[in-house]
Amino acid sequence: MKKLSKDSCIGVIGAGTMGSGIAQLAASFGHKTVLFDANAAVLKQADEKLRKSLEGLAQKGKITDDAAKSTIANIHHAASFDEFAKCDLIIEAVIEEIGVKQEIFKKLETIISADCILATNTSSLSVTSIAASCSKPERVVGIHFFNPAPIMPLVEIVPGIATSKAIVDESRALIDTWNKTTVIAKDTPGFIVNRVARPFYGEAIRIYEEGIADFATIDWAMKEIGGFRMGPFELMDFIGNDINFKVTETVWTQMFYDGRYKPSLTQKRLYEAGFWGKKKGRGYYSYAENAVMPEPNKDMELGAEIFSRIIAMLINEAYDALYMNVASKEDLELAMTKGVNYPKGLIAWAGEIGQQKVLDLLLELHSIYLEDRYRPSLLLMRSAL
Ligand SMILES: NC(=O)c1ccc[n+]([C@@H]2O[C@H](COP(=O)([O-])OP(=O)(O)OC[C@H]3O[C@@H](n4cnc5c(N)ncnc54)[C@H](O)[C@@H]3O)[C@@H](O)[C@H]2O)c1
Repeated sequence: MKKLSKDSCIGVIGAGTMGSGIAQLAASFGHKTVLFDANAAVLKQADEKLRKSLEGLAQKGKITDDAAKSTIANIHHAASFDEFAKCDLIIEAVIEEIGVKQEIFKKLETIISADCILATNTSSLSVTSIAASCSKPERVVGIHFFNPAPIMPLVEIVPGIATSKAIVDESRALIDTWNKTTVIAKDTPGFIVNRVARPFYGEAIRIYEEGIADFATIDWAMKEIGGFRMGPFELMDFIGNDINFKVTETVWTQMFYDGRYKPSLTQKRLYEAGFWGKKKGRGYYSYAENAVMPEPNKDMELGAEIFSRIIAMLINEAYDALYMNVASKEDLELAMTKGVNYPKGLIAWAGEIGQQKVLDLLLELHSIYLEDRYRPSLLLMRSAL
């Protein structure tokens, strides 16, 4: 197998939010980068946005003029797939549709060299099923960046069941040279971050639905008591309720409808209404020009109740991911602190709060609601003993 290095040519398919960021990242580390999008207007837009952003960074002195110029010069806009023939690693970041991704990989295999690595940036599809469309599934790997790709430090490397270890090691080593923190995640729904973080949103919505507290109070509790940078509702509005709802729905369906991941009607209605958050001017909150943000109820007892319930659910999910070998303990902790900026790793947090205390709360919730959603992980139960 050919070794990847800074001389390797990187292909990126899809020049939307993620693809344009990944291309910028690769080009900024000196790689000749080939970028393609089925929609020529998107490619043009990506180019304009990149030039503007790099010029802005250079003006602010954050990067040198030369760095800005060479990043731009390193990105070549491809007119057709044939131009991927010279690439050593191709990362696809097209729309989240399995059929589209499979077709792309099938077509690429007729063009690329025998040792070119094929990667998918999918957030929620199975890497194994994308790879299964290829004649050489062993060269297909998940390389999951977070948005914005040039800035977010975490990258989840996801081997499919047929992926060769050499391909995993080689792609991980290359991404490490792009100043990223890489973690290995098992090819399971949501990988690490999008699985373990689900209760941050889901349990917050549940607390709201039960009338225990409003959005502002729940956000306040998680920031003030939990030390999170953003509250769950602020964060969902920031990510987009369209994206966040779809990820929740996909993880739930791919987990064979496990009640722990059940989406909420509250978010589904926001999704249906087009209240997707900041980008639409309306989500859980209004972002209209004269909108006044609602004031939280800063009752510490209520805040502690909210925080305890959400953190217990997050810790339970982290323990279960560990129990199910989704990732090593170290990678789990890194993923949540680097991927979604949690103030602490969840396993370490459980140690601080006390596993027994977390377990007691889950058992209490489970006995009250009689819902699978509060089912404690066996590993948490064992750790609390
Ligand atoms: N947006 C995020 O926060 C995020 C984070 C991590 C991973 N992802 C994943 O990255 C991928 C892309 O997401 P995005 O948010 O950048 O989407 P996007 O909609 O911004 O961009 C997708 C691009 O793919 C292009 N495209 C569609 N079909 C194509 C084809 N057959 N050939 C070439 N180009 C084609 C579209 O024209 C579009 O520009 C998805 O798999 C998504 O799950 C997204």
